[in-house]
Amino acid sequence: RAEADPLRPRFHFVSPAGWLNDPNGVSQWNGTYHLFYQYNPEGAFHHRIQWGHATSTDLVSWIDQPVALEPSAGPDAEGCWSGVLVNDGGTPTLVYSGRSGGRELPCVATGTPDLLDWTKDPGNPVIGAPPTGVDITAYRDHCVWQEGSTWRQLVGSGIRDVGGTAFLYESSDLRSWDYIGPLFIGDASHGDPGAPDWTGTMWECVDLFRAGRGALGSAHAGDSTDVLVFSAWNDGETRHPLYWTGRYAGDTFEPEALHRLDYGGRFFYAPQSFRDESGRRIMFGWMQEGRSDAAMVEAGWSGVMSLPRVATLANDGTLEFAPVPEIETLRRNHVSVPAQVLVAGTSMDTGVSGDQLDLEVELQLSAGAELRLGLLGCVDGAEETVVILGRSADGSPTGMMHLDRTRSSLDPAVDKEEKSGPLPMTDGRVRLRVLVDRSAVEIFANGKPLTARVYPTQGGGRVTLAVAEGTVRLLSFEAWAMAAVFDDTRSLLTERK
Ligand code: FRU
Repeated sequence: RAEADPLRPRFHFVSPAGWLNDPNGVSQWNGTYHLFYQYNPEGAFHHRIQWGHATSTDLVSWIDQPVALEPSAGPDAEGCWSGVLVNDGGTPTLVYSGRSGGRELPCVATGTPDLLDWTKDPGNPVIGAPPTGVDITAYRDHCVWQEGSTWRQLVGSGIRDVGGTAFLYESSDLRSWDYIGPLFIGDASHGDPGAPDWTGTMWECVDLFRAGRGALGSAHAGDSTDVLVFSAWNDGETRHPLYWTGRYAGDTFEPEALHRLDYGGRFFYAPQSFRDESGRRIMFGWMQEGRSDAAMVEAGWSGVMSLPRVATLANDGTLEFAPVPEIETLRRNHVSVPAQVLVAGTSMDTGVSGDQLDLEVELQLSAGAELRLGLLGCVDGAEETVVILGRSADGSPTGMMHLDRTRSSLDPAVDKEEKSGPLPMTDGRVRLRVLVDRSAVEIFANGKPLTARVYPTQGGGRVTLAVAEGTVRLLSFEAWAMAAVFDDTRSLLTERK
Protein backbone atom coordinates (compact mmCIF):
# COMPACT_ATOMS: atom_id res chain seq x y z
CA ARG A 1 0.00 0.00 0.00
CA ALA A 2 2.78 2.41 0.82
CA GLU A 3 4.17 1.48 -2.61
CA ALA A 4 3.92 3.96 -5.43
CA ASP A 5 1.60 6.29 -3.57
CA PRO A 6 1.66 9.41 -5.75
CA LEU A 7 0.88 11.66 -2.78
CA ARG A 8 3.76 10.54 -0.59
CA PRO A 9 6.52 13.16 -0.62
CA ARG A 10 9.95 12.10 -1.81
CA PHE A 11 12.31 14.78 -0.50
CA HIS A 12 10.47 15.76 2.66
CA PHE A 13 10.99 13.52 5.68
CA VAL A 14 8.12 11.11 6.24
CA SER A 15 8.00 8.29 8.77
CA PRO A 16 8.89 4.78 7.60
CA ALA A 17 5.31 3.71 8.32
CA GLY A 18 2.19 4.83 10.11
CA TRP A 19 1.72 8.16 11.82
CA LEU A 20 4.03 11.16 12.32
CA ASN A 21 3.30 14.41 14.14
CA ASP A 22 5.48 16.95 15.98
CA PRO A 23 9.23 17.36 15.52
CA ASN A 24 11.00 16.68 18.83
CA GLY A 25 14.55 17.03 20.15
CA VAL A 26 15.71 18.81 16.99
CA SER A 27 19.41 19.41 17.37
CA GLN A 28 22.96 19.08 16.09
CA TRP A 29 25.19 16.90 18.26
CA ASN A 30 28.89 16.48 17.40
CA GLY A 31 28.16 17.49 13.84
CA THR A 32 25.22 15.14 13.27
CA TYR A 33 21.70 16.50 12.96
CA HIS A 34 19.02 14.68 14.95
CA LEU A 35 15.34 14.71 14.20
CA PHE A 36 13.06 12.93 16.63
CA TYR A 37 9.33 12.93 16.04
CA GLN A 38 5.99 11.83 17.42
CA TYR A 39 5.47 8.43 15.87
CA ASN A 40 3.04 5.54 15.72
CA PRO A 41 4.53 2.83 13.50
CA GLU A 42 1.46 0.62 14.00
CA GLY A 43 -0.84 2.65 11.78
CA ALA A 44 -1.71 6.08 10.46
CA PHE A 45 -3.52 7.24 13.58
CA HIS A 46 -2.48 8.97 16.81
CA HIS A 47 -2.09 6.29 19.45
CA ARG A 48 0.56 5.07 21.93
CA ILE A 49 2.98 7.66 20.64
CA GLN A 50 6.71 6.85 20.54
CA TRP A 51 9.73 8.94 19.61
CA GLY A 52 10.88 8.07 16.11
CA HIS A 53 14.45 9.08 15.33
CA ALA A 54 16.39 9.93 12.19
CA THR A 55 19.86 11.42 11.70
CA SER A 56 21.46 13.43 8.95
CA THR A 57 24.80 15.01 8.17
CA ASP A 58 23.37 17.45 5.60
CA LEU A 59 19.72 18.14 6.56
CA VAL A 60 18.77 16.58 3.21
CA SER A 61 18.98 12.81 3.48
CA TRP A 62 17.96 11.02 6.64
CA ILE A 63 18.89 7.69 8.13
CA ASP A 64 16.29 5.97 10.28
CA GLN A 65 17.48 5.06 13.74
CA PRO A 66 15.82 2.81 16.30
CA VAL A 67 12.85 4.24 18.15
CA ALA A 68 14.28 6.39 20.93
CA LEU A 69 11.43 6.30 23.44
CA GLU A 70 8.52 3.93 23.76
CA PRO A 71 5.74 3.87 26.34
CA SER A 72 6.41 1.54 29.28
CA ALA A 73 4.69 0.83 32.61
CA GLY A 74 4.74 4.05 34.63
CA PRO A 75 4.27 7.73 33.89
CA ASP A 76 4.53 7.37 30.10
CA ALA A 77 2.44 4.18 29.78
CA GLU A 78 0.06 5.87 27.31
CA GLY A 79 2.58 7.75 25.24
CA CYS A 80 5.87 9.62 25.02
CA TRP A 81 4.65 13.03 23.95
CA SER A 82 6.57 16.05 22.76
CA GLY A 83 9.81 17.34 24.20
CA VAL A 84 13.36 18.49 23.63
CA LEU A 85 16.99 17.37 23.72
CA VAL A 86 19.52 19.20 25.91
CA ASN A 87 23.21 18.72 26.58
CA ASP A 88 23.65 18.11 30.32
CA GLY A 89 27.42 18.49 30.69
CA GLY A 90 27.99 16.06 27.82
CA THR A 91 25.09 13.72 28.58
CA PRO A 92 22.34 13.82 25.97
CA THR A 93 19.12 14.31 27.90
CA LEU A 94 15.52 14.30 26.73
CA VAL A 95 12.78 16.19 28.55
CA TYR A 96 9.38 15.00 27.33
CA SER A 97 5.75 14.67 28.32
CA GLY A 98 4.90 11.25 29.69
CA ARG A 99 1.22 10.46 29.29
CA SER A 100 -0.65 8.18 31.66
CA GLY A 101 -4.12 8.21 33.15
CA GLY A 102 -5.16 10.67 30.44
CA ARG A 103 -2.77 13.43 31.47
CA GLU A 104 0.82 14.42 30.79
CA LEU A 105 3.71 15.15 33.17
CA PRO A 106 7.38 16.06 32.57
CA CYS A 107 9.78 13.10 32.27
CA VAL A 108 13.53 12.78 31.62
CA ALA A 109 15.66 10.19 29.79
CA THR A 110 19.42 10.07 29.23
CA GLY A 111 21.15 8.77 26.14
CA THR A 112 24.32 7.00 25.10
CA PRO A 113 26.92 9.23 23.36
CA ASP A 114 25.56 8.19 19.93
CA LEU A 115 22.06 9.22 21.06
CA LEU A 116 20.68 5.81 20.08
CA ASP A 117 19.85 4.20 23.44
CA TRP A 118 17.83 5.98 26.05
CA THR A 119 17.26 5.25 29.73
CA LYS A 120 14.28 6.74 31.48
CA ASP A 121 14.94 8.40 34.81
CA PRO A 122 13.67 6.26 37.71
CA GLY A 123 12.42 9.48 39.32
CA ASN A 124 9.93 10.20 36.51
CA PRO A 125 7.79 12.21 36.42
CA VAL A 126 10.25 14.90 37.46
CA ILE A 127 7.41 17.34 38.13
CA GLY A 128 4.63 15.49 39.92
CA ALA A 129 1.71 17.82 39.19
CA PRO A 130 0.87 21.09 37.46
CA PRO A 131 0.90 24.26 39.58
CA THR A 132 -1.86 24.25 42.18
CA GLY A 133 -4.47 26.94 42.56
CA VAL A 134 -5.04 27.46 38.84
CA ASP A 135 -7.63 25.74 36.71
CA ILE A 136 -5.59 24.60 33.73
CA THR A 137 -6.78 23.44 30.31
CA ALA A 138 -3.77 21.18 29.65
CA TYR A 139 -0.13 20.86 30.67
CA ARG A 140 2.52 19.48 28.35
CA ASP A 141 5.46 20.10 25.99
CA HIS A 142 8.76 21.59 27.01
CA CYS A 143 11.31 24.22 26.23
CA VAL A 144 14.51 23.80 28.25
CA TRP A 145 17.63 25.98 28.24
CA GLN A 146 20.58 26.81 30.45
CA GLU A 147 21.57 30.17 31.92
CA GLY A 148 24.95 29.72 33.55
CA SER A 149 24.61 26.62 35.71
CA THR A 150 20.84 26.99 36.05
CA TRP A 151 18.34 25.14 33.90
CA ARG A 152 15.08 26.77 33.03
CA GLN A 153 12.02 25.06 31.65
CA LEU A 154 8.72 26.14 30.14
CA VAL A 155 5.74 23.81 30.14
CA GLY A 156 2.89 24.73 27.79
CA SER A 157 -0.51 25.22 29.32
CA GLY A 158 -3.59 27.38 29.56
CA ILE A 159 -5.68 28.88 32.33
CA ARG A 160 -9.36 28.17 31.89
CA ASP A 161 -11.42 31.17 30.76
CA VAL A 162 -8.29 33.33 30.69
CA GLY A 163 -5.87 32.18 27.99
CA GLY A 164 -2.89 30.14 26.95
CA THR A 165 0.31 30.28 28.98
CA ALA A 166 3.66 28.71 29.66
CA PHE A 167 4.71 27.89 33.21
CA LEU A 168 8.32 28.67 34.10
CA TYR A 169 10.48 26.42 36.29
CA GLU A 170 14.08 26.38 37.45
CA SER A 171 16.46 23.54 38.33
CA SER A 172 20.12 22.82 38.94
CA ASP A 173 19.99 19.18 37.78
CA LEU A 174 17.01 18.75 35.40
CA ARG A 175 15.46 16.43 38.02
CA SER A 176 14.21 18.68 40.78
CA TRP A 177 12.29 21.75 39.63
CA ASP A 178 11.14 24.89 41.42
CA TYR A 179 8.04 26.56 40.08
CA ILE A 180 8.49 30.26 39.34
CA GLY A 181 5.19 31.25 37.73
CA PRO A 182 3.53 31.85 34.39
CA LEU A 183 6.06 33.39 32.00
CA PHE A 184 3.29 35.23 30.22
CA ILE A 185 -0.48 34.72 29.93
CA GLY A 186 -2.33 35.16 26.64
CA ASP A 187 -5.84 36.43 26.19
CA ALA A 188 -8.20 33.81 24.82
CA SER A 189 -10.92 36.44 24.49
CA HIS A 190 -8.70 38.29 22.01
CA GLY A 191 -10.28 38.14 18.60
CA ASP A 192 -12.47 35.50 17.16
CA PRO A 193 -11.86 31.87 18.07
CA GLY A 194 -10.81 30.43 14.75
CA ALA A 195 -9.40 33.74 13.45
CA PRO A 196 -5.81 33.27 12.27
CA ASP A 197 -4.36 35.34 15.13
CA TRP A 198 -6.46 33.86 17.92
CA THR A 199 -4.16 32.92 20.79
CA GLY A 200 -6.13 29.90 21.94
CA THR A 201 -6.94 28.25 25.26
CA MET A 202 -3.77 26.15 25.36
CA TRP A 203 -0.24 26.79 24.09
CA GLU A 204 1.26 23.63 22.66
CA CYS A 205 4.97 23.22 21.97
CA VAL A 206 6.26 26.53 23.34
CA ASP A 207 9.69 27.44 21.97
CA LEU A 208 11.48 30.46 23.45
CA PHE A 209 14.67 31.68 21.78
CA ARG A 210 16.80 34.69 21.01
CA ALA A 211 16.61 35.82 17.40
CA GLY A 212 19.69 37.70 16.33
CA ARG A 213 22.82 37.88 18.39
CA GLY A 214 23.33 36.64 21.93
CA ALA A 215 21.97 33.85 24.08
CA LEU A 216 18.63 33.77 25.81
CA GLY A 217 18.93 35.62 29.11
CA SER A 218 21.96 37.69 28.09
CA ALA A 219 21.87 41.46 27.56
CA HIS A 220 20.45 42.60 24.24
CA ALA A 221 23.10 44.07 22.01
CA GLY A 222 22.19 45.52 18.64
CA ASP A 223 19.63 43.79 16.49
CA SER A 224 18.06 41.08 18.56
CA THR A 225 14.71 40.15 19.97
CA ASP A 226 13.36 37.30 22.00
CA VAL A 227 10.76 35.13 20.38
CA LEU A 228 8.10 33.00 22.05
CA VAL A 229 6.68 30.52 19.55
CA PHE A 230 3.59 28.56 20.47
CA SER A 231 0.91 26.52 18.76
CA ALA A 232 -2.49 27.91 19.68
CA TRP A 233 -4.97 25.16 20.34
CA ASN A 234 -8.43 24.63 21.71
CA ASP A 235 -10.70 21.65 22.07
CA GLY A 236 -12.42 22.53 18.84
CA GLU A 237 -10.98 23.29 15.48
CA THR A 238 -8.36 25.99 16.01
CA ARG A 239 -4.74 25.00 15.63
CA HIS A 240 -2.13 27.40 14.31
CA PRO A 241 1.41 28.53 15.09
CA LEU A 242 1.99 32.07 16.38
CA TYR A 243 4.85 33.97 17.95
CA TRP A 244 5.37 36.93 20.17
CA THR A 245 8.39 39.10 19.76
CA GLY A 246 9.51 40.90 22.90
CA ARG A 247 11.85 40.69 25.83
CA TYR A 248 12.47 37.72 28.06
CA ALA A 249 13.54 39.46 31.22
CA GLY A 250 14.18 37.48 34.37
CA ASP A 251 11.01 35.66 35.22
CA THR A 252 8.64 37.13 32.69
CA PHE A 253 8.26 37.78 29.01
CA GLU A 254 7.35 41.31 27.93
CA PRO A 255 5.58 41.00 24.59
CA GLU A 256 5.89 43.61 21.89
CA ALA A 257 3.90 42.16 19.03
CA LEU A 258 2.00 39.02 18.03
CA HIS A 259 2.64 37.49 14.61
CA ARG A 260 1.43 34.57 12.56
CA LEU A 261 4.30 32.13 12.08
CA ASP A 262 3.01 30.47 8.91
CA TYR A 263 -0.05 31.41 6.87
CA GLY A 264 -0.82 27.74 6.33
CA GLY A 265 -1.92 27.57 9.98
CA ARG A 266 -2.34 23.97 11.04
CA PHE A 267 -0.27 22.78 8.07
CA PHE A 268 2.88 24.03 9.81
CA TYR A 269 2.07 23.03 13.34
CA ALA A 270 3.97 22.41 16.58
CA PRO A 271 7.24 23.84 15.21
CA GLN A 272 10.45 23.37 17.14
CA SER A 273 13.80 25.08 16.52
CA PHE A 274 17.46 24.88 17.50
CA ARG A 275 20.65 26.78 16.87
CA ASP A 276 23.02 24.65 14.82
CA GLU A 277 26.81 24.57 15.13
CA SER A 278 27.16 27.29 12.50
CA GLY A 279 24.82 29.54 14.50
CA ARG A 280 21.74 29.24 12.32
CA ARG A 281 18.28 29.09 13.90
CA ILE A 282 16.69 26.08 12.19
CA MET A 283 13.03 25.19 12.52
CA PHE A 284 10.97 22.14 11.60
CA GLY A 285 7.17 21.91 11.66
CA TRP A 286 4.59 19.18 11.26
CA MET A 287 2.68 19.35 7.98
CA GLN A 288 -0.44 17.58 9.06
CA GLU A 289 -2.95 16.01 6.69
CA GLY A 290 -6.01 17.62 5.14
CA ARG A 291 -7.83 14.36 4.65
CA SER A 292 -10.08 12.20 6.78
CA ASP A 293 -8.90 9.82 9.48
CA ALA A 294 -10.18 6.93 7.34
CA ALA A 295 -8.24 8.15 4.30
CA MET A 296 -5.02 8.30 6.33
CA VAL A 297 -5.50 4.77 7.64
CA GLU A 298 -6.24 3.60 4.12
CA ALA A 299 -3.06 5.30 2.79
CA GLY A 300 -1.03 3.64 5.56
CA TRP A 301 0.90 6.81 6.38
CA SER A 302 0.14 10.24 7.78
CA GLY A 303 2.10 13.43 8.37
CA VAL A 304 5.02 15.12 6.65
CA MET A 305 7.93 16.94 8.29
CA SER A 306 8.56 20.35 6.77
CA LEU A 307 11.91 21.00 5.21
CA PRO A 308 14.23 22.53 7.78
CA ARG A 309 13.97 26.32 7.47
CA VAL A 310 16.29 29.03 8.68
CA ALA A 311 14.72 31.82 10.73
CA THR A 312 16.31 35.25 10.65
CA LEU A 313 15.30 38.60 12.07
CA ALA A 314 14.01 40.99 9.41
CA ASN A 315 14.45 44.77 9.55
CA ASP A 316 10.84 45.22 10.64
CA GLY A 317 11.43 43.06 13.72
CA THR A 318 9.53 40.02 12.44
CA LEU A 319 10.95 36.63 11.50
CA GLU A 320 11.80 35.70 7.94
CA PHE A 321 12.19 32.13 6.78
CA ALA A 322 13.95 30.28 3.98
CA PRO A 323 14.55 26.58 3.41
CA VAL A 324 18.12 25.60 4.37
CA PRO A 325 20.39 26.07 1.32
CA GLU A 326 21.51 22.43 1.61
CA ILE A 327 18.20 21.50 -0.07
CA GLU A 328 19.56 23.03 -3.29
CA THR A 329 21.83 19.99 -3.73
CA LEU A 330 18.70 18.14 -4.88
CA ARG A 331 18.19 20.50 -7.81
CA ARG A 332 18.31 18.93 -11.30
CA ASN A 333 17.38 19.99 -14.86
CA HIS A 334 17.53 23.73 -14.50
CA VAL A 335 15.03 25.63 -16.66
CA SER A 336 14.66 29.42 -16.92
CA VAL A 337 11.57 31.24 -18.07
CA PRO A 338 12.69 34.42 -19.89
CA ALA A 339 12.28 37.75 -18.14
CA GLN A 340 9.26 39.56 -19.53
CA VAL A 341 6.43 41.93 -18.78
CA LEU A 342 3.09 40.23 -18.21
CA VAL A 343 0.09 42.43 -18.81
CA ALA A 344 -3.46 41.97 -17.58
CA GLY A 345 -5.11 39.09 -19.37
CA THR A 346 -1.89 37.08 -19.77
CA SER A 347 -2.24 33.36 -19.21
CA MET A 348 0.68 31.15 -20.11
CA ASP A 349 2.14 27.73 -19.67
CA THR A 350 5.71 28.15 -18.41
CA GLY A 351 6.85 24.86 -19.90
CA VAL A 352 7.96 23.83 -16.43
CA SER A 353 6.29 20.70 -15.18
CA GLY A 354 6.59 18.22 -12.34
CA ASP A 355 5.42 17.25 -8.90
CA GLN A 356 8.87 17.56 -7.30
CA LEU A 357 9.95 21.11 -7.99
CA ASP A 358 11.89 24.04 -6.65
CA LEU A 359 10.97 27.46 -8.11
CA GLU A 360 12.75 30.72 -7.48
CA VAL A 361 10.99 33.75 -8.93
CA GLU A 362 11.54 37.49 -8.74
CA LEU A 363 8.67 39.77 -9.58
CA GLN A 364 7.56 43.33 -9.50
CA LEU A 365 3.84 44.05 -9.28
CA SER A 366 2.30 47.33 -10.36
CA ALA A 367 -0.18 48.92 -7.95
CA GLY A 368 -3.32 46.81 -8.02
CA ALA A 369 -1.64 43.91 -9.85
CA GLU A 370 -2.41 40.28 -9.18
CA LEU A 371 -0.25 37.36 -10.26
CA ARG A 372 -1.42 33.76 -10.29
CA LEU A 373 1.10 30.95 -10.32
CA GLY A 374 -0.54 27.61 -11.03
CA LEU A 375 1.03 24.40 -9.71
CA LEU A 376 0.26 20.71 -10.13
CA GLY A 377 -2.09 21.51 -12.98
CA CYS A 378 -3.51 18.84 -15.23
CA VAL A 379 -3.83 19.41 -18.95
CA ASP A 380 -7.54 20.22 -19.01
CA GLY A 381 -7.11 22.57 -16.04
CA ALA A 382 -9.62 20.65 -13.90
CA GLU A 383 -7.05 20.45 -11.12
CA GLU A 384 -4.62 23.21 -10.21
CA THR A 385 -3.25 24.70 -6.98
CA VAL A 386 -2.81 28.45 -7.33
CA VAL A 387 -0.45 30.80 -5.53
CA ILE A 388 -1.84 34.35 -5.75
CA LEU A 389 0.24 37.43 -5.04
CA GLY A 390 -1.46 40.80 -4.94
CA ARG A 391 -0.40 44.38 -4.44
CA SER A 392 -2.97 46.83 -3.19
CA ALA A 393 -4.14 49.57 -5.54
CA ASP A 394 -3.36 52.34 -3.06
CA GLY A 395 0.35 51.57 -3.10
CA SER A 396 0.45 50.52 0.57
CA PRO A 397 3.60 48.58 1.44
CA THR A 398 1.69 45.43 2.31
CA GLY A 399 0.14 43.17 -0.27
CA MET A 400 -1.44 39.77 0.15
CA MET A 401 -0.50 36.20 -0.60
CA HIS A 402 -3.05 33.45 -1.01
CA LEU A 403 -3.06 29.79 -1.73
CA ASP A 404 -6.20 28.90 -3.62
CA ARG A 405 -6.74 25.18 -3.14
CA THR A 406 -10.38 25.14 -4.30
CA ARG A 407 -9.38 23.28 -7.50
CA SER A 408 -6.40 21.47 -5.99
CA SER A 409 -8.18 18.13 -5.99
CA LEU A 410 -11.19 16.48 -7.57
CA ASP A 411 -11.53 14.46 -4.37
CA PRO A 412 -14.56 16.05 -2.67
CA ALA A 413 -13.49 14.85 0.78
CA VAL A 414 -10.15 16.66 1.21
CA ASP A 415 -9.57 20.08 2.80
CA LYS A 416 -9.53 22.82 0.14
CA GLU A 417 -9.86 25.92 2.27
CA GLU A 418 -8.02 28.99 0.99
CA LYS A 419 -4.99 30.11 3.00
CA SER A 420 -3.75 33.68 3.02
CA GLY A 421 -1.83 36.37 4.84
CA PRO A 422 -0.26 39.80 4.49
CA LEU A 423 2.78 40.12 2.25
CA PRO A 424 5.20 42.93 3.05
CA MET A 425 6.77 44.41 -0.09
CA THR A 426 8.72 47.44 -1.27
CA ASP A 427 7.85 48.92 -4.68
CA GLY A 428 5.82 45.82 -5.46
CA ARG A 429 8.86 43.55 -5.37
CA VAL A 430 8.42 39.92 -4.40
CA ARG A 431 11.00 37.18 -3.97
CA LEU A 432 9.06 33.99 -4.31
CA ARG A 433 10.25 30.49 -3.49
CA VAL A 434 8.02 27.49 -4.00
CA LEU A 435 8.80 23.90 -3.14
CA VAL A 436 6.41 21.24 -4.39
CA ASP A 437 6.80 17.67 -3.21
CA ARG A 438 3.68 15.86 -4.37
CA SER A 439 1.12 16.52 -1.58
CA ALA A 440 3.45 18.91 0.29
CA VAL A 441 3.76 22.57 -0.76
CA GLU A 442 5.95 25.18 0.94
CA ILE A 443 5.77 28.78 -0.26
CA PHE A 444 7.98 31.66 0.88
CA ALA A 445 7.15 35.16 -0.36
CA ASN A 446 9.53 37.85 0.88
CA GLY A 447 10.36 35.41 3.67
CA LYS A 448 6.76 34.88 4.83
CA PRO A 449 5.86 31.20 4.72
CA LEU A 450 2.62 29.56 3.66
CA THR A 451 2.74 25.80 4.03
CA ALA A 452 -0.03 23.43 2.99
CA ARG A 453 -1.04 20.01 1.80
CA VAL A 454 -2.89 19.24 -1.43
CA TYR A 455 -4.24 15.98 -2.83
CA PRO A 456 -4.30 16.06 -6.64
CA THR A 457 -5.86 13.02 -8.27
CA GLN A 458 -4.99 13.58 -11.95
CA GLY A 459 -1.20 13.44 -11.80
CA GLY A 460 -0.77 16.87 -13.37
CA GLY A 461 2.42 18.89 -12.96
CA ARG A 462 1.87 21.97 -15.11
CA VAL A 463 3.20 25.31 -13.92
CA THR A 464 1.29 28.28 -15.33
CA LEU A 465 1.39 32.04 -14.95
CA ALA A 466 -1.52 34.42 -15.26
CA VAL A 467 -2.08 38.08 -14.58
CA ALA A 468 -5.63 39.05 -13.77
CA GLU A 469 -5.09 42.75 -13.14
CA GLY A 470 -2.30 45.29 -13.49
CA THR A 471 1.15 44.55 -14.84
CA VAL A 472 3.72 42.11 -13.51
CA ARG A 473 7.38 42.27 -14.40
CA LEU A 474 8.88 38.83 -14.37
CA LEU A 475 12.46 39.67 -13.42
CA SER A 476 13.61 36.06 -13.17
CA PHE A 477 12.07 32.62 -13.06
CA GLU A 478 14.32 29.66 -12.30
CA ALA A 479 13.00 26.15 -11.95
CA TRP A 480 14.47 22.80 -11.04
CA ALA A 481 13.22 19.27 -10.74
CA MET A 482 14.05 17.95 -7.27
CA ALA A 483 15.75 14.60 -6.88
CA ALA A 484 14.09 12.13 -4.55
CA VAL A 485 15.60 11.34 -1.17
CA PHE A 486 13.20 8.46 -0.59
CA ASP A 487 11.87 6.09 -3.21
CA ASP A 488 8.24 5.04 -3.49
CA THR A 489 8.60 2.35 -0.87
CA ARG A 490 10.17 4.99 1.39
CA SER A 491 13.64 3.48 1.20
CA LEU A 492 16.48 5.95 1.33
CA LEU A 493 18.05 6.49 -2.08
CA THR A 494 21.75 6.54 -1.31
CA GLU A 495 22.86 7.10 -4.92
CA ARG A 496 21.44 10.49 -5.80
CA LYS A 497 22.18 11.62 -9.32
C1 FRU B 1 0.95 18.92 19.31
C2 FRU B 1 0.72 17.85 20.36
C3 FRU B 1 1.52 18.15 21.61
C4 FRU B 1 1.67 16.80 22.24
C5 FRU B 1 1.82 15.92 21.03
C6 FRU B 1 1.21 14.55 21.19
O1 FRU B 1 0.61 18.47 18.03
O2 FRU B 1 -0.66 17.75 20.67
O3 FRU B 1 0.92 19.10 22.46
O4 FRU B 1 2.77 16.69 23.09
O5 FRU B 1 1.19 16.59 19.95
O6 FRU B 1 1.54 13.73 20.10
